[in-house]
Amino acid sequence: MKTHLELSDVCMDFPTPKGTFNALHHINLKVAQGEFLSLIGHSGCGKSTVLNIVAGLLKATQGGIIVNGHEVNSPGPDRGMVFQNHSLLPWLTVYGNVALAVRQVFGGKKTRAEQREWIEHNLELVNMAHAMDKRPHEISGGMKQRVGIARALSMQPQILLMDEPFGALDALTRAQLQDSLMEIQARLGTTVLMVTHDVDEAVLLSDRVVMLNVGPGATIGKVLDVDLPRPRERLALAESADYHHCRAEILHFLYAGHSASTAEPAPAPAAGAGESRLHLLPKKVANG
Ligand SMILES: Nc1ncnc2c1ncn2[C@@H]1O[C@H](COP(=O)(O)OP(=O)(O)OP(=O)(O)O)[C@@H](O)[C@H]1O
Ligand SMILES: [Mg+2]
Repeated sequence: MKTHLELSDVCMDFPTPKGTFNALHHINLKVAQGEFLSLIGHSGCGKSTVLNIVAGLLKATQGGIIVNGHEVNSPGPDRGMVFQNHSLLPWLTVYGNVALAVRQVFGGKKTRAEQREWIEHNLELVNMAHAMDKRPHEISGGMKQRVGIARALSMQPQILLMDEPFGALDALTRAQLQDSLMEIQARLGTTVLMVTHDVDEAVLLSDRVVMLNVGPGATIGKVLDVDLPRPRERLALAESADYHHCRAEILHFLYAGHSASTAEPAPAPAAGAGESRLHLLPKKVANG
């Protein structure tokens, strides 16, 4: 299949008061048109950094990003981003936040009425139409995250970049949104690069799961092909041996030591990036 997105020899060094911190080390990855790819790895290994570089928000120290055969260096509406920390404009309403994105992409193509309908449609997709006149400080964290998802989807990006998009949601909403994401992606053929900590989510949604080694100098440790037929249905998958095999492969990578880097130990992580993510082990497994 045609390569849509390519990470070519991406290295990332951050300047810190203690000297240069090498976060990513020669990351090479090709994502096919319409492919759903998940990035999984321990906290602080560099997943958000990868996504920010693809989004054009960070410039790789070495190497670069190629979209449809052309190098990209800056953000663009072709790459819609759902941020790990919902990033809504506080002075705009829920509706206004999505409208800003819609106007940018469809300003010249849709009438005002069509834009309104489209904004409402996307808010309905994430069950947020009822709160469209509220401002971000008036809604919960999970709700803000849903608005962020609606905003990204409303731009109909060719590439959807999602940084733990469902992490802050309750289990039921998460399942609903995972299902709508699968449905939307199948319908539009969007290429998706998603960061997740959730092994079940990675297997359910992905065509491939890319597992990152622990940093500093994080590299790709393992790539798993998820050959489960689509459309996928979570209850049916619970009975599938192939599904459980995929889960086990990822859990093994994360917890059997394969993800440990051979590089020197990491310095104290940057603020906000370092809380323990051992909750990554799903309860089912933790309880045996
Ligand atoms: N601007 C920065 N300056 C210095 N170091 C940084 C900067 N941004 C990220 N880092 C470091 O780079 C590494 C990768 O960070 P990143 O946010 O990509 O991790 P992550 O895999 O997304 O973690 P999490 O799962 O906790 O979100 C971390 O060690 C982090 O402390
Ligand atoms: Mg992150």
